[in-house]
Amino acid sequence: MLSIRDLRVEFESPHGLIMPVDSVDMDILDKETFTIIGESGCGKSLLANSLLGLLPRDAKVSGKVHIDGEEILSLKKKEWRRIRGNKIGLVFQNPSASLNPVFNMHGHLYETLKYSNKPSSRDKMVSLLKKTGIKNPLRRLSQYPHQLSGGMKQRFAIALGIATDPDILIADEPTNGLDVTVKLKIVQMLSKLHSERSILLITHDLNVAYNLSDKIAVMYAGELVEIAPVNSFFEKPIHPYSSQLLVSHPEKEMLPIPGFTPQLTQRPQGCRFHPRCALASRKCKHEHPGLEKIEGERYVRCFACA
Ligand SMILES: Nc1ncnc2c1ncn2[C@@H]1O[C@H](COP(=O)(O)OP(=O)(O)OP(=O)(O)O)[C@@H](O)[C@H]1O
Ligand code: SF4
Ligand SMILES: [Mg+2]
Repeated sequence: MLSIRDLRVEFESPHGLIMPVDSVDMDILDKETFTIIGESGCGKSLLANSLLGLLPRDAKVSGKVHIDGEEILSLKKKEWRRIRGNKIGLVFQNPSASLNPVFNMHGHLYETLKYSNKPSSRDKMVSLLKKTGIKNPLRRLSQYPHQLSGGMKQRFAIALGIATDPDILIADEPTNGLDVTVKLKIVQMLSKLHSERSILLITHDLNVAYNLSDKIAVMYAGELVEIAPVNSFFEKPIHPYSSQLLVSHPEKEMLPIPGFTPQLTQRPQGCRFHPRCALASRKCKHEHPGLEKIEGERYVRCFACA
């Protein structure tokens, strides 16, 4: 359904060209939840936003993205309207910042539905709020973002994401900053949506990733370094970064990954993970590994693992 090939996002910087998203290849199947995990700044949100043409003006995007066979990166500005909302919906990272303080819930839903030429009846809005577990939906429609709790804002952000009934929903850290009980409710809600549409989920929360995903992709310094079905990934992560990411989890040994994520302007030659990798060889310092299929649906970018 969604196929991404050689996707790159570049910016000019005072230090030269930087590439926060580098040669990403991945496929999301019909009604599949595909989750990207990885350290802060590795390029997850830029990757997601590039699928909606929502990048800053100075970003250069290249590669091919097909949705149901149609290439979308080469679309003209006006044509993106057909894709945004209708084909792909987005739940923004941090709803507190993305909701407009001068619009109430009704105003947000009205603008979203109007943009995608969808009917914007009050009944439709009420049913969307109900679907996302918002109680007293009629009364809520007149409320403004500052009147909503964190959990309610997140539910409402998801209601906006699915309002236009997109085939693919991108949810960028939908449980970030929520307490355990609210997080559980959001996970249960996303799990219901799972049977209706494809979801591209971005999260730092490995429990959320485990509970909601069909496939996991691990991103490091702009590249995908492992893609695997969820169960085999959590049973046996293969890339050294994936293994370390799992043991750095608070519910595991909480062992920090040694070293630091490389800066965008100073990415190491060879394998980008080599300065932090216990298995690094001479070859890893000089040659750049590709993402190779190693078995079934597992792909890994590592000389020692392929
Ligand atoms: N407009 C921009 N110009 C230059 N660099 C940018 C721009 N936007 C983002 N970046 C850089 O691109 C990198 C990836 O950013 P991105 O927001 O995709 O990270 P992320 O993986 O989503 O992180 P987080 O988990 O913290 O949300 C970061 O180093 C960020 O500083
Ligand atoms: S390619 Fe080498 S440095 Fe990179 S993850 Fe594999 S073993 Fe480690
Ligand atoms: Mg992000």
